[in-house]
Amino acid sequence: MSSQLEHPTLLIPGPIEFDDDVLQSMSHYSESHVGPGFVATFGDTISMLRKLFQTTDPSAQPFVISGSGTLGWDIVAANLVEAGEDVLVLSTGYFGDGFADCFETYGAKLTKLTGTVGGRPQLPEIEKALKSKKFKMVTVTHVDTSTGVLSELENLSKLVKSVSPETLLVVDGVCSVACHRMPGRPVDIHVQRQGHRGFQGAQDPARHVLCFHEELDADHAELRGQEAVLLRDALAAVDPRSAHRTHPDSVEAAIRALCDAPRGLGWIKKAVADLGLKQVASNPEDQAHGMTAIYLPEPVKATDLLPKLAKAGVVWAGGIHKEIAPKYVRFGHMGVSVTDPARKDIDKAIKALSNGLEECGYKA
Ligand SMILES: Cc1ncc(COP(=O)(O)O)c(C=O)c1O
Repeated sequence: MSSQLEHPTLLIPGPIEFDDDVLQSMSHYSESHVGPGFVATFGDTISMLRKLFQTTDPSAQPFVISGSGTLGWDIVAANLVEAGEDVLVLSTGYFGDGFADCFETYGAKLTKLTGTVGGRPQLPEIEKALKSKKFKMVTVTHVDTSTGVLSELENLSKLVKSVSPETLLVVDGVCSVACHRMPGRPVDIHVQRQGHRGFQGAQDPARHVLCFHEELDADHAELRGQEAVLLRDALAAVDPRSAHRTHPDSVEAAIRALCDAPRGLGWIKKAVADLGLKQVASNPEDQAHGMTAIYLPEPVKATDLLPKLAKAGVVWAGGIHKEIAPKYVRFGHMGVSVTDPARKDIDKAIKALSNGLEECGYKA
């Protein structure tokens, strides 16, 4: 039973509902950054992050970094790519496009492959692009929260490795880490990042995690002026004695809550399908586990449905993909809302959806 004040259930693709332990850990008393308590917490956090990123590779190095999710884009674009270098961005929606904009801001030369709405770029076109020039980096949004499209990593990683082994593969995992299995070795993901989404609500000041799956050599990580501070701070944070900028208690509590979490969310997709609704991600293999983007049936409008859900105590998000924004809504099912079924958050949301649709004139 949650000890939190009664509040509307936040079921958007991030931020998400808090786990009680995570919320409480954020009021932890201050302690010395060189004291045994902090050092132990920090060490445990790093070990558990390896588990969360599903790697046993001893060279995989997680970093805990303070900042918003987009900071991860900045860290990558500012530190791992030089102005004028080529980057291939695989986009499946708004956030892939945002990552691309970030590279352009830092002066990279951009090639973007965009999937059809609700789909993803396919391997043959990616191979063609990879053979056309030498890319410093390929980026992929594992789950784009604007569309709920899941990108495939295993074959992509093999392709990059075989066609262009020097190219870095960067995965934006804001809405996928802890929701999806990472493909097993031999997979070559070089940088993977995680925001607060799958993290049981872990928030500032330590909610952002990067995992370098291979040691980045000097060639890959040239430091440039001011911007390089981001990466230098990240490197410093690996050493607990220099880690006082971050307070990892909330991250630690969040990971603890996740490591033993139940999996298997197929029933949520089924409940949506049983209402006769279609997902933006059309191919079942490309559908995210932690969220669902749902097309609205005739005659329902998002501006009518969302307030009805809110009245039933459920907060969902509207569409943000520029081509289809008014035609769909977004439902986040991550963190404690799924790991603690006793809360009944998801049942409440499905019931609210069914009733809301009916009130808007749609009958399943
Ligand atoms: C896939 C993805 N990448 C990056 C971001 C940006 O994260 P933030 O809003 O924390 O800056 C988001 C935000 O929703 C996202 O869904």
